[in-house]
Amino acid sequence: MRIALLPGDGTGPEVIAEAVKALDAAALRFDLELEYEHYDLGGERYLRTGDVLPDPVLKELGKADAILLGAIGHPDVAPGILEHGIILRLRRELDQYVNLRPVKLYPGVAGPLRDATPADVDLVVVRENTEGLYSGIGGFVGRGSWREVAIEESVNTRFGVERCVRYAFELARSRPRRALTFCGKSNVLVHAHDLWQRVVDEVAAEYPDVTSDYANIDAACAWMVQQPQRFDVIVTDNMFGDIITDLGAAIQGGLGIAAGANLNPDGVSMFEPIGGTAPDVAGKGRINPLAAIVAAALLLSHNGHEDEGAAIENAAARMAGLLPSLAAGEMGMSTAELGNRVAELVATGS
Ligand code: IPM
Ligand code: MN
Repeated sequence: MRIALLPGDGTGPEVIAEAVKALDAAALRFDLELEYEHYDLGGERYLRTGDVLPDPVLKELGKADAILLGAIGHPDVAPGILEHGIILRLRRELDQYVNLRPVKLYPGVAGPLRDATPADVDLVVVRENTEGLYSGIGGFVGRGSWREVAIEESVNTRFGVERCVRYAFELARSRPRRALTFCGKSNVLVHAHDLWQRVVDEVAAEYPDVTSDYANIDAACAWMVQQPQRFDVIVTDNMFGDIITDLGAAIQGGLGIAAGANLNPDGVSMFEPIGGTAPDVAGKGRINPLAAIVAAALLLSHNGHEDEGAAIENAAARMAGLLPSLAAGEMGMSTAELGNRVAELVATGS
């Protein structure tokens, strides 16, 4: 496999280095050949050269088997430049139309929910990843004046919604509970989520073995905290998915463990820890690398190497359960020590 590495900014390079240790350990144990290509993208490069995402780089990334992303963002770069210029452009140009975010409480992890067990917190969010409020369509009239108008449009295409919803139903069918919940705001977004609901209902008719229901996104946020066992597969739009997956990360113990995948089921997918660049702890060996390691596990599993992926996820889960906390600086060991321990567990299969 040819893996493109995009370590990026802040703590990105530190966590990617540990994810690579786990990948190498799995490759050795299962006799898999992995090649890495490093790409320098992010705020540092932008400030140095003015490059955001050069077309030749985009083209090369499109030829990799998979992409592993650290984190992108920089305190000295204006909001939106790197987000729209790199992350959202990659998602769109590589047509990674599903943002898949598993929310799992691993055994032994003390999450913030007092009574939750691993059986209670085991859901997956399927977030539409190329449309909605992330389309960038909108504009200003009279910016800065007293009568300024700012418009941000939510784009929802029949095609884009349907392929995402179909992915979610297939995923639900593959899981023991076979339950899908569309989270929207159809009582207010009477155009966009009317389209979504009609698509969900139509596709549901093809999946009689999957139960499908609807929850308003605000109520769903409360249920995530009070009754997370209510959910199996959640399908939702780009903006609501962004928000509810940080909540999901919180109930599984924090951003130190939460990973996700930007999937193009027919093309190149990109895997990432969902926390950001954490500039306050960058370069100090204090960041938790487990999220990036779980992202590496997802990368292998989604590219046909399920055993290798499971070996890495199990090792990360074991270590997560042994740590006093998953928060940066509170793991009881450094970033590299934790990465080494995971890689040892992957190597020995214990
Ligand atoms: C995420 C991030 C991104 C998003 C930002 C950095 C553009 O928050 O992956 O959830 O909003 O999708
Ligand atoms: Mn987010």
